[in-house]
Amino acid sequence: MKVLIPGSFDPPTFGHLDVIHRSINTFNEVLIGIISNPSKDPMFDGETRKLMIEENIELSSTIEIKVFEGLLVDFARENNIEAIVKGVRAMTDFDYEFQMAQVNKELDGLETLFVPAKPEYGYVSSSLVKEIFRLGGDVASFVPSSVLERLNNE
Ligand code: PNS
Repeated sequence: MKVLIPGSFDPPTFGHLDVIHRSINTFNEVLIGIISNPSKDPMFDGETRKLMIEENIELSSTIEIKVFEGLLVDFARENNIEAIVKGVRAMTDFDYEFQMAQVNKELDGLETLFVPAKPEYGYVSSSLVKEIFRLGGDVASFVPSSVLERLNNE
């Protein structure tokens, strides 16, 4: 099965990388889709977010990373995607994730599979990482060192 892991990845966290690694171990083909201009004004441009993921996964012929614009269902169809994979953390994620899953199902029959976040990453989010970093906090336990370096250079 070929699956799509979509997201903002601004920046990628250990939580994202965990879902990516587990998907690579579970599915034949994995496409990571980085939304170019998420509704939130991104800290990093799409290509930099792509680079940060590339630096932290073992690339192979069954893994692809692309930056996309527009509707997720259109991007999924263009790439012969059979299902979306999304990581979910606490119950607070569910309302939003269920809403997106239902809409994508309604729009194009696209299924969404949920992967529960590992408990140790259950509280990690890109938004929190950025906030903690901007306020001078230590985010080394939430993001890989290459991401930390880029945060420091921003
Ligand atoms: O990492 P995020 O910010 O939770 O990812 C959100 C994402 C990229 C999956 C979502 O915003 C999305 O699918 N955007 C594409 C536009 C679209 O299709 N919107 C309707 C989906 S319900």
